[in-house]
Amino acid sequence: MKHEGIEILTDDAHCPMLPGIVHPGKDLLTIMNQMVDTRAHQNPMYLCDESNLVKRVQLFLRSGFSGEVAYAVKANPNARVLRMIHRGGINRFDVASLPEIETVVRVYPDAHIMFNNPWKTPHEIAQASEIHGVTHFTVQTELEIRKILGHTKALPRSLLEIAVRLQAPRNQKALVDFHDHFGAPKEAVIEMIRRLKKEIEGKVGISVHAGSQNSDIKSYQTALETMADISKAVGGVDFLNIGGGFPVEYYPNPPLGFGAFLRNIVTIANRAKERARADTMYMEPGRSIVAESTCLVIPVVGRTGNDLLHIRDSVYQSFFSARLHRFEPCFRAFRKGKHGFNELPPDKRKKFVARGRTCDAADFLEVQAPEGTREGDVLLLPSAGAYSGASCSTTFNGFTAPQWIYYNTPS
Ligand SMILES: Cc1ncc(COP(=O)(O)O)c(C=O)c1O
Repeated sequence: MKHEGIEILTDDAHCPMLPGIVHPGKDLLTIMNQMVDTRAHQNPMYLCDESNLVKRVQLFLRSGFSGEVAYAVKANPNARVLRMIHRGGINRFDVASLPEIETVVRVYPDAHIMFNNPWKTPHEIAQASEIHGVTHFTVQTELEIRKILGHTKALPRSLLEIAVRLQAPRNQKALVDFHDHFGAPKEAVIEMIRRLKKEIEGKVGISVHAGSQNSDIKSYQTALETMADISKAVGGVDFLNIGGGFPVEYYPNPPLGFGAFLRNIVTIANRAKERARADTMYMEPGRSIVAESTCLVIPVVGRTGNDLLHIRDSVYQSFFSARLHRFEPCFRAFRKGKHGFNELPPDKRKKFVARGRTCDAADFLEVQAPEGTREGDVLLLPSAGAYSGASCSTTFNGFTAPQWIYYNTPS
């Protein structure tokens, strides 16, 4: 549906997505000036620069990585975001559930799916392989191996691809440490790989996830070296999967130099692949592909005293993951003047407690924002595209996920 150049995205059967708008505007401030009406105290919205998504994908694809790049759908499953990622050149997706598989195949029926949740039900395994043709699964227990072999009977064994997930060391430098959540110890991985190599003619490999928002290169190196050691111990594996976790520039942190960071990881990974004598390798970034494409804009509906802001968003919508992982968002703030929005001095910041729009006492978050922020201003959170309103939002108290607005900056 088009209205004065603005395309309203509707939720149709072919392309389900969060309510959204494609705006012909070319830069963030233009979009804000046209879309954000402070008097109406409207709802929060995500402003997504589609060209950034495509560029980010291409950064990964041109990194020299000796393998294939998958996108971790959990970071942002919005159909239009998946489209841009596919447009950038990715046709491989890491998923955790049947609904995630359905979301991907509705947009791209020929996509390669990696069903990497290590705890699946027999029903999920059977549906994934029989209905959606999924051949790639991840295990971290003997039980899961039995389930997969028992519930993919219609699938020729030569087509099966099974990754055994290695437990990564604890990683206090990552925002999300997967040590307690994912993977088996090295010795158990070796046993499972030996068994799988006897049981299937398909491909057997090793996967790992060293932590999300992880800028510790050494943690990747340790994991990759262990994978290469395991491969040697079992007489070779078909593939390595280095997982995701690549870090994002969160405001106001200094530039990450992500290009150089990625080149380092790629060098280490390519070396490990050679040592492991693996045919191929995968990586599956999520956060790092989508986060920086998108800003979140939130109206401030009030300020109480010095330290309390009342915002038109919630830990039940945009900040579920931030709250769980104790991430403290730092906002820029804008005030509407005669000629549009002006930014409040960004360097004069202070800590606030931001109270959310629901009526739950637990709906609050520690944040930073410019010290003069008051009712009628809008907060802007850069790098808000991952693990936020598109993937983690609930409908508690009747509030729904914020709207998405897509635009394009010129290259
Ligand atoms: C198996 C797997 N791969 C990839 C990812 C993506 O990680 P990130 O968003 O940190 O890149 C996750 C995140 O939980 C994961 O569980």
